Amino acid sequence: MNGVKISAVGHYAPAAILTNEDLEKTLDTSDEWITTRTGMKRRHIAAENEATSDLCIAAARDALRNGKIAPSDIDCYIVATSTPDYAFPATACIVAAQLDAVGKPAFDMEIACSGFIYGLTLASSLIRAGVYSRVMLIGAESLSKIVDRSDRSTAILFGDGAGAVVLEAAAENSFLSSELGADGRRPETLCLLGGGSRRRLTAESLKAGEQYLRMEGREIFKFAVTKMIEATGIALHRANLQKSDVNWLIPHQANKRIIDAAAKYLEMPEERVIVNIEEYGNTSAASIPIALSEALTAGKIKPGDIIVFVGFGGGLSWGAVTWKWA
Ligand code: COA
Repeated sequence: MNGVKISAVGHYAPAAILTNEDLEKTLDTSDEWITTRTGMKRRHIAAENEATSDLCIAAARDALRNGKIAPSDIDCYIVATSTPDYAFPATACIVAAQLDAVGKPAFDMEIACSGFIYGLTLASSLIRAGVYSRVMLIGAESLSKIVDRSDRSTAILFGDGAGAVVLEAAAENSFLSSELGADGRRPETLCLLGGGSRRRLTAESLKAGEQYLRMEGREIFKFAVTKMIEATGIALHRANLQKSDVNWLIPHQANKRIIDAAAKYLEMPEERVIVNIEEYGNTSAASIPIALSEALTAGKIKPGDIIVFVGFGGGLSWGAVTWKWA
C-alpha cells in the first residue's frame, strides 16, 4: 500500500459570534461595505480562556468520532497554525497529550494561511513513504487574539476555528499532485511584527501596536488571485487533469471577491466552489478543513470526486493540492 486517503474529518468553531452589525457599533464601517468587499457576515470568536489547542482538541475529537478512531491509533499529530498557544512548546504536543496520546510525535507547522495545503502535502508524503500509517492534521487559529479591534482594515476580516483531518495509508492513492511556493522578500506584507526574535515586545513596541497583525490588503488581493490560478494550473497539469475534471474547488476563505475571480478564470461554476466565508470570515490555516468538513456533512462530496484545495497567505506563501476523494 503506498496510497493515502482522508478517512475522517471534523471541525469546531467557538460559540461567540461577531456580526457585521456588531462591528458597525465600534468601527467606522458598515454591513454593506463588509459584505460587498469581502462576502463576510459573521465570525466565530474564541473565549478569553480558549486557546488554539482547545479549538484543535474539539475539532480532533469531532474527526475521531466521525471516523470511529481512537487517539492512540494516530501515529503523528501535526498542527498548522500562526496563533499557537505559546511560541514553544508546539501546540500539537499539548493537543496530543490532552487526547491521551502522550508519546506520539507531535509538531506545529507555521506557514500562515497556506498551512493546511503544506500540511496535506507533508502528511500525505509521510504516509506514502511508509513512515506513518495514520496522521492527524489540524488547521487551527485564534486570530481574534492578534487582531487590533480598532483597525477597521483587519478587524472585520478574521475569525477563529479549527478543522481536522485523519489521513491514512490506502491501496488507492487520493493525493494526486501538489504545487507549493513561497516568496519571503517582503515579510511585512502580512505579518505579526512584534514578539519574535527580530523585534521583541517592549513598552515602546506595544505602544506602536506591534503585537497586532498587519496587512497590505490591496497587495495581497492581487497576489492571491494570481497565485491561486497559477498553483491550481500547475497542480492540475502535474496530475494530468483538465479544469473540467474538477468536481470541487475548496479555496482558502479570505475574500469572496478573490475566490470569485480565481473561480472565474478556472471556469468553475459557482455551485462547484465551496464557500463558507459568510459564516466564519478568514480563519487562516483552519478555513480549508472547516470548508471540507461542512461540505462532507452536507453530502456534497462523493467517492471518486476530484477536489482542488488551494490557498495563499503570509510568507508570502501559496499552494494547491489535487485530491481524488475515496
Ligand atoms: N469599512 C469601511 N471602509 C473601509 C474599511 C472598512 N472596514 N476598510 C477600509 N476601508 C476604506 C479604505 O480606507 C479606503 O478608503 P479611501 O478610498 O477613502 O482611501 C476604501 O475603503 C478602499 O480601501 P481598499 O483597501 O482599497 O479596499 P479593498 O477593496 O482593497 O478591500 C480588503 C480591502 C482588505 C477587503 C481587500 O483588499 C482584501 O481582501 N485583500 C486581501 C486581504 C487578505 O486576503 N488577507 C489575508 C490573506 S490570507
